[in-house]
Amino acid sequence: MASYGFVLLSLVISFVASCPPVKPPCICGPSEHGPVQIVCNRAKSMKEVTDALANATGAVIDRLVITNTPIRTLERRDLEPLTSLMLQRLALVNNGIENVASDAFAPVKSNLLALDLSDNGLTKIDASLVTGAEQLISFAAQGNRIAVIEDGAFANMKSLCYIDLSFNRLSTLPENLLSGSFKRAPGSAVPRMLYVCENSWKCDAKLEWFREYLRNNADIIVDKPGCLSLCDFGTYRLPIRDRDLTHN
Ligand SMILES: *[C@@H]1O[C@H](CO)[C@@H](O)[C@H](O)[C@H]1NC(C)=O
Repeated sequence: MASYGFVLLSLVISFVASCPPVKPPCICGPSEHGPVQIVCNRAKSMKEVTDALANATGAVIDRLVITNTPIRTLERRDLEPLTSLMLQRLALVNNGIENVASDAFAPVKSNLLALDLSDNGLTKIDASLVTGAEQLISFAAQGNRIAVIEDGAFANMKSLCYIDLSFNRLSTLPENLLSGSFKRAPGSAVPRMLYVCENSWKCDAKLEWFREYLRNNADIIVDKPGCLSLCDFGTYRLPIRDRDLTHN
């Protein structure tokens, strides 16, 4: 029993020890992603967040969540103070972000496994926003106003297998969007997620490459509960993956 207690105690100490010092409005604690999750809620600005994390230098951060903080524009210099962190997952959710400089994530890209930009006001995804994030497995930007994704935006990302673009304003996608990416690991039973439901898909010749890609990659999941990926032909709607018999 004594040794059991000792193991438990050292476990607790190692949990506590792995959280770096942070100031309010940020707090640090364990989560499903690991022992070090930092949540910064209702900061006055991005600057207040990075100031609150100033003494976290060098720490391994399983996940950093910044939420309910006014950040209309995100630039490279905003994330530069986080360069020394080993940041594995970054969530910038519900901050009113409308513009993201194409190099904004450059300071943190190298270690990132997941980037979540859900519930903001983004209208466009630049070609170089996430490319080069070699480790990135998951990219989420649901609930924005994204109407344009530049060609190659997710190209040559070896680990990427989860993209959430649901609840946006997309009508088409460029043909080299996923070139060299989004490959299914050989023998893997894990489905790939490419949520494109609740957009305004215009299923014409320009989008046919994508619809055919979905037909040829049956494991890819495009819908969520209550969120369907549909072509809108005005008089009728059709699942985005289906062959359109009347238009072929
Ligand atoms: C950083 O550490 C210094 C020295 O311990 C302390 O005075 C300062 O308040 C800390 N700042 C933050 C943001 O934690």
